[in-house]
Amino acid sequence: MTASDPLLRSLRVDVLGPQHDRRHFASGVDALDRYFQTQIGQDARKNIAAPFVLLLPDGTVAGYYTLSATSVHLADLPPETARKLPRYPVVPATLLGRLAVDRRFHGRGYGGYLLADALRRCLRSEIASFAVIVDAYDDNAHRFYERMSFLALPDTPRKLFRPLADIAPLFQESGA
Ligand SMILES: CC(C)(COP(=O)(O)OP(=O)(O)OC[C@H]1O[C@@H](n2cnc3c(N)ncnc32)[C@H](O)[C@@H]1OP(=O)(O)O)[C@@H](O)C(=O)NCCC(=O)NCCS
Repeated sequence: MTASDPLLRSLRVDVLGPQHDRRHFASGVDALDRYFQTQIGQDARKNIAAPFVLLLPDGTVAGYYTLSATSVHLADLPPETARKLPRYPVVPATLLGRLAVDRRFHGRGYGGYLLADALRRCLRSEIASFAVIVDAYDDNAHRFYERMSFLALPDTPRKLFRPLADIAPLFQESGA
C-alpha cells in the first residue's frame, strides 16, 4: 500500500470537480462507466456519495471511487468479528460504493493505489466507522477485494468488509 514506484508517485487523487473530463472514461464495466458519466455529480450534490478521481500528471482521469456513510447489522458480521464489538444492533461503517480504473491503465497498480487512498481517507475521518464495506460488482471485483484482504459477509458474499482497526497499522508502518 505504499507508492514507492515513481509512476505511482506522480498520481494525484482529488475531489471530483467540473474541470475533470468524465466523458470517455471506460473501465470495462458499463454500469460503473455510466454512473461516472451521468450520475455521480448528482449524487455528490445531494450528499449521497463523495466522489474522488485519480489523476495522471496531464490531468487525465484514470479512475474514481465514492465514499458514503452506511451501517452494518452486527448479526451480518462473521461471529469472530461481531464478538469483539459492543452489542449494538447496528454499527457504523463506510461504504466504498464504487471504484474503477480506466481499462487503458489496468494492471499498473492504480486500483491498489486508489483503494489505499480511500482507506487512508476513512482512517483520517473524524467520524467513527468500524469498517469499510465494498459492494463487489462481479466476480472479478470480488477477487480484487479478496486480494486486498477484504472478507465476505457470510450471508451476502457480494459485500465484503475490512475493519479499520486492521487497516490503521498498515499506514503507520509505511509512514503514510
Ligand atoms: C478491479 C480494478 C479496479 C483493478 O484495478 P487495477 O489497476 O487493474 O489493479 P492493480 O494493478 O492496482 O492491482 C493491484 C493488485 O490487485 C490484483 N488484482 C487486480 N485485479 C484483480 C482481479 N480482478 N482479481 C484478483 N486480483 C486482482 C493485482 O494482481 C495486484 O496484486 P499484487 O498487489 O499482488 O500485484 C480494475 O480492474 C477495474 O476498474 N475493473 C473494472 C471495474 C471494477 O470491477 N471495479 C471493482 C469495484 S465494483
